[in-house]
Amino acid sequence: MTSKLTSEERNHLIRAAEDVAEKAYAEYSGFRVGAAVLGARGTYTGVNVENASYPLGLCAERAALAAAISTGDRELKGIAIACIDASGGDIQEVMPCGACRQWLAELSPEAEVIVCASDLNQSFLVEDLLPLAFRLRKHHQ
Ligand code: THU
Repeated sequence: MTSKLTSEERNHLIRAAEDVAEKAYAEYSGFRVGAAVLGARGTYTGVNVENASYPLGLCAERAALAAAISTGDRELKGIAIACIDASGGDIQEVMPCGACRQWLAELSPEAEVIVCASDLNQSFLVEDLLPLAFRLRKHHQ
C-alpha cells in the first residue's frame, strides 16, 4: 500500500504498541495484544482486557481507539497492533477481528493499520480490511 505515515511515525507506533502489550490482561488466552493510535495531538494506547465471563473481553484496538476519542482527538492517522505472543507466520492469527474493523471504519477510516508480530509488520488500509463498511448518516457531529 502507499504509506500514510512517515517511517519515524510507523516505528514510533510499533514501539508503543509492543511496549503497552506487556500490560495486556490476557489471563485466559495468554495472547497479549497492544495497540497504539497516532492522532493529531498525541499517541493513545490500549491492551486487550479479558474477563472470566469470556464474551466480555475487550480487544486492544478498541481500547486504544476509545482512549483517543476520550481526549477529543479525532484526527487519527495510524494504528499499530502488536501481537507479542505470535510470530506472524500465520497472518490471520494477528489480523484485527471483525468488531475492531468496524470500529476502525467508524473512527479512523483514513488510518494506516500496521499489524505486528515478532516476525511481521505489514500495513493495510481500513477500506481494504472492511470493504463497504456499514455506516449511517451522522446527525450530530
Ligand atoms: N484480540 C485483540 O485484542 N484484538 C483483535 O483484533 C483480536 C483478538 C484479543 C482478544 C483476546 O483477549 C485475545 O486477543 C485472544 O483472542
